[in-house]
Amino acid sequence: MDKKQQFLNPEYSQGFVESPYVKQMCKITQLLYQHGWDERNGGNVSYRLTASEVNSYGDVHHIIRNIPIAFDASPLAGTYFLVTGTGRYFKNIIDYPQRDTGLVKIAQDGHSVDLLWGFCDGGLPTSEFPAHLMTHIERLKIDSNQRIVMHCHPTNLIALSFTVPLDEKTITRILWKMQAESIVVFPEGIGVLPYMTPGTNEIGAATAAKMSDYRLVLWPHHGIFASGDSMDEEFGLIETVEKAASIFTTIRSQGGPILSEISDENLAQLAARFDLTPTHEFMHGDTLAKMMRN
Ligand code: 13P
Ligand code: ZN
Repeated sequence: MDKKQQFLNPEYSQGFVESPYVKQMCKITQLLYQHGWDERNGGNVSYRLTASEVNSYGDVHHIIRNIPIAFDASPLAGTYFLVTGTGRYFKNIIDYPQRDTGLVKIAQDGHSVDLLWGFCDGGLPTSEFPAHLMTHIERLKIDSNQRIVMHCHPTNLIALSFTVPLDEKTITRILWKMQAESIVVFPEGIGVLPYMTPGTNEIGAATAAKMSDYRLVLWPHHGIFASGDSMDEEFGLIETVEKAASIFTTIRSQGGPILSEISDENLAQLAARFDLTPTHEFMHGDTLAKMMRN
């Protein structure tokens, strides 16, 4: 951008901290904290930004430092991400976005990122950055509007991973049958990994592999990974899954037998009404009563 263009562009004199992207990040991380899904430093968010969105701000044009990453992110070379920092508390991001988040650009060789803004006390991207970037790579193959990856620790969903068999059909069908809304919001269902060590390339690769079929992946005994086009869509996906899991918790704590349920025929009616193509193999199976008896 030359001097005349800078003069004509009112945002150029603005700091990136004033951008809608940082504001959205502050708002969503605060909401995640308030929901109780991101205790301490739990959770992380990455937000893909385009060059034109970034370039209009005045304070993002030189490299503050280069940060190595331990895997090959070359399919994203040149791509910008606003990302939460490792060890940062979501409750604080709203007050210290320039400390607790950073704007990075993936370097050409894919093995490091250039920090352009943020992490002002020497911070680093989330330890789950491999899983985030691998997920962005996978989802961008399917959806060119893919923007956000969000990871958090929703209580009821984590609890359910201890009491229900860890298979995608059972967990999807239970969540679909907890409320009519579920199949409408995530007709493809939910991917499920075995328990794996967080912050590793292995869990990143396994998550990304699931993301070719799902936008939601359950990490048993830990949390959830979600991908999507906007903060609202993403947060809405997680809210809906966690609401279903909270109904499951409530049913369990009320005790007693299951006396009625959303039947497989009801699921088919919902799919027809909302013009959805749910994952076929999840549409028929055991009753809720049978699945909840394990
Ligand atoms: P970070 O603090 O590195 O983002 O890790 C939090 C987390 O939830 C790990 O799964
Ligand atoms: Zn986590």
